[in-house]
Amino acid sequence: MLTLGLNKPRLSPETFLLLRDIVYKRSGIFVPDNKKYLLETRLARRLELKDLKTFEDYYYFLTYDGEREREIQALCNSVVTNETSFFRDVPQLEAFRKGVVSKVIEEKSRCSDRSIRIWSAACSTGEEPLTISMMLHEDCVPSRGWNVEILGSDISDSVLNAAQAGVYEKYSLRNTPEEYIRKYFTASGESYSINGKVRGPVRYKKINLIDANETRAVRGMDIVFCRNVLIYFDDASKKKAIGHLYDSMAKGGYLLVGFSESLHSITRLFRPVSMERSVVYKKI
Ligand SMILES: C[S@@+](CC[C@H](N)C(=O)[O-])C[C@H]1O[C@@H](n2cnc3c(N)ncnc32)[C@H](O)[C@@H]1O
Repeated sequence: MLTLGLNKPRLSPETFLLLRDIVYKRSGIFVPDNKKYLLETRLARRLELKDLKTFEDYYYFLTYDGEREREIQALCNSVVTNETSFFRDVPQLEAFRKGVVSKVIEEKSRCSDRSIRIWSAACSTGEEPLTISMMLHEDCVPSRGWNVEILGSDISDSVLNAAQAGVYEKYSLRNTPEEYIRKYFTASGESYSINGKVRGPVRYKKINLIDANETRAVRGMDIVFCRNVLIYFDDASKKKAIGHLYDSMAKGGYLLVGFSESLHSITRLFRPVSMERSVVYKKI
């Protein structure tokens, strides 16, 4: 039978532009024209769940319905991947561990400040801030008398709820050395719970990086990770987000962006510094 797909709703070019605009205004994420098909496929399930027949109905729901806030989040979620893992991009993590942390410790020791504040902005389900916490533990930073605070944030409630739970599947641990798994996780069936000593310094908060009202709550960060989210932004959103991160950082603080991301042509507020086999950015 050739009936397959006949009743599937079609996303018209006009409605695509309207939906893309909602995503952009809310999150700074720019959905390029060639992702129209992706949006159509991914949103089909949302229409089904909301019992809506057409994408035009869906647009009206997002504009006028009392539950539109939650649905706008779901829409934004559908265009970005929450893909992450423990120990993602090891060379960068080595730059953090061997270069950035010792620099910060050296600089702060000079003014007898024994606190280190780290922000994992756009942390998805928490693997990044927990990796940071594990590495600092491994290098005995807290037990050497340093007060470590790690903030994990994201725009999405659902990933933050998972981060709060702190329970992971083996797949999230695919890059994690066995000795770390033994030391820092408790296995139960197919799941792995993060141990309290790693979870302890990490708190989570919902923060939209392009919203100055939300980033304003964060100040004085010594080190910021903002990895694998700028790729979804256009230049205007990148400039906005980077400006907000700048305001949230201490003078001389370090910013680490994703392996394939760069601040070139976005800002001159940071100086690129080569560390290990990576480039990190120092707030001037
Ligand atoms: C691919 S994950 C990156 C996770 C982690 N940083 C890593 O590199 O493994 C991208 C995350 O960015 C979040 N995100 C997208 N737009 C955002 C915004 N405007 N503000 C904060 N987070 C955002 C998404 O919800 C998603 O969890």
